[in-house]
Amino acid sequence: MKVTLAIATFCVVMACSHAARTTTTTATKPGRFLSLPVPAKCASRPKEFSYRGKNMFLTTHVPALANKKVDWLDGRNLCREYCMDLVALETQEKNNLIFRVIQQNDVPYIWTAGRICDFAGCENRPDLEPKTVYGWFWSATREKIQATNRIPQGWGYNPWSQTGHKKRPQPDNAEYDINQTKEQCLSVLNNVYNDGIAWHDVACYHEKPVICEDNEELLRYVAATNPGIRL
Ligand SMILES: *[C@@H]1O[C@H](CO)[C@@H](O)[C@H](O)[C@H]1NC(C)=O
Repeated sequence: MKVTLAIATFCVVMACSHAARTTTTTATKPGRFLSLPVPAKCASRPKEFSYRGKNMFLTTHVPALANKKVDWLDGRNLCREYCMDLVALETQEKNNLIFRVIQQNDVPYIWTAGRICDFAGCENRPDLEPKTVYGWFWSATREKIQATNRIPQGWGYNPWSQTGHKKRPQPDNAEYDINQTKEQCLSVLNNVYNDGIAWHDVACYHEKPVICEDNEELLRYVAATNPGIRL
């Protein structure tokens, strides 16, 4: 089942997509935008492993990025310069692959492309309510994430952790209760709550390593605008 979020206006390749104007407008970083791909970086992007023809890499494995930790939007932008985006975990098979990468490399946590649709363009959408259950999507592809409160169709387990800061199933928007910072982004945490490797909603300003994944739209755009480029 593949459901795509039809957000009113999106110009994927240009820097005017939904996440741009509305994400994490923290006091220190106002008016942030999505980055454009950089053709030379796309052509030489790290290809550490792949799934169904899409190359991926973990930032901690790339010497120039090894110690880099970024907030969620900077994570998207880091990936986008390589014609990639944050990894989306659409299926159990792909999720298992990413969980294995996290386990084998002892990575404490990563950002994924998951985000809650609570910005301009997400209003008047009964299908996204309640947001904590039906409002999540993969920003890289705009594909909806299945209901958070049950095992997704086609899966044998619920990837969302059944515990967290409040000892309740995720997503729990826990930081909101502490200081009104919403947990709008989807992170895979490695046993932070003694819960194994699992999905958590996390406030987007936290800085983490990321896994980047080839983005077909950005690759097509760079191929079309740079004749002869090898991607
Ligand atoms: C909110 O609380 C978290 C966890 O204690 C903290 O890390 C963060 O800096 C706080 N944010 C604000 C805006 O006070």
